[in-house]
Amino acid sequence: MQVISDLEALRPARAALAGPVGLVPTMGALHAGHLSLVEAARADCHSVVVTIFINPLQFEAGSDFDKYPRDLPADLALLESAGVDLVFTPTPDIMYPPGFQTTVRVAEVSKGLEGARRPGHFDGVATVLTKLFHLTQPDLAYFGQKDAQQVVVVRRMVRDLNFPLEIVVCPTTREADGLAMSSRNRYLSPEERQHAASIYQALQAAAALYEDGERDADALRGQVADLLSHVPGGELEYVSLADPGTLVECAGPVSGPALLSLVLRLGETRLLDNLLLPVCLNTREGLTATLGA
Ligand code: PAJ
Repeated sequence: MQVISDLEALRPARAALAGPVGLVPTMGALHAGHLSLVEAARADCHSVVVTIFINPLQFEAGSDFDKYPRDLPADLALLESAGVDLVFTPTPDIMYPPGFQTTVRVAEVSKGLEGARRPGHFDGVATVLTKLFHLTQPDLAYFGQKDAQQVVVVRRMVRDLNFPLEIVVCPTTREADGLAMSSRNRYLSPEERQHAASIYQALQAAAALYEDGERDADALRGQVADLLSHVPGGELEYVSLADPGTLVECAGPVSGPALLSLVLRLGETRLLDNLLLPVCLNTREGLTATLGA
């Protein structure tokens, strides 16, 4: 496994890789969710590239950029045993040299949900992914369902700007009690960690209601809100039921696939999760076909 942090060395190393090449972009602090993307890439592609870069452009001022977990040696050990060929670990000054002033903005789908609460976040994501796609030239790029809006933004960008690559979406990897794995889960106190399991229970309850025939968007969102209103110390920032391509909120009866997503804040930690309805779509095939379609 090659580990490269400068641009000059990256070009020949990338050129030497046999295709198809799969890319898994990450910010490090790797867990089983990230590794599921690596495994999928390993199964599909001849070569696998992982990037580890905590992208300052996607953190708003005063957010957790400085305390975002960093553990490069542990990450590299995990990637080595997962059979990764090349890891690109640039520094912010390599990615954003003095005078950098270009932004990629995916206008509409970046606006709502996470975009409304984290101004500029998706501009930062779209800009860094544009650079990482150019630098690593993948045939396939792997993303997690966990960050569903990110996938919608990236797929729109790939289509709009004609990147010659395919986006693959892998299902959310969860802890035994259903909590979606996240690098930020380590911020939770033991008590908060216990309460965090309610999130997936609420999503599943709404999914069960849907499977029983409920199609009213307010009733489905209301089910989640009711269940999460009882979580001690929890504050539901939003619950959304939206069209998975446009992210426009559903109104009235839902026809066709819908993305049920939410953020529950526990203490200082924002916990993000989602499910596609109907539930049969929460597979790699269903997610890849539906999100951003
Ligand atoms: P990061 O949060 O490190 O996540 C990297 C990838 O892992 C993303 O595609 C994310 O959706 C996926 N992922 C995270 N938790 C997951 C889980 N529990 N199950 C499955 N996949 C999971 O997302 C980013 O980094 C950045 O925004 C990035 C795309 C690297 C751009 O900077």
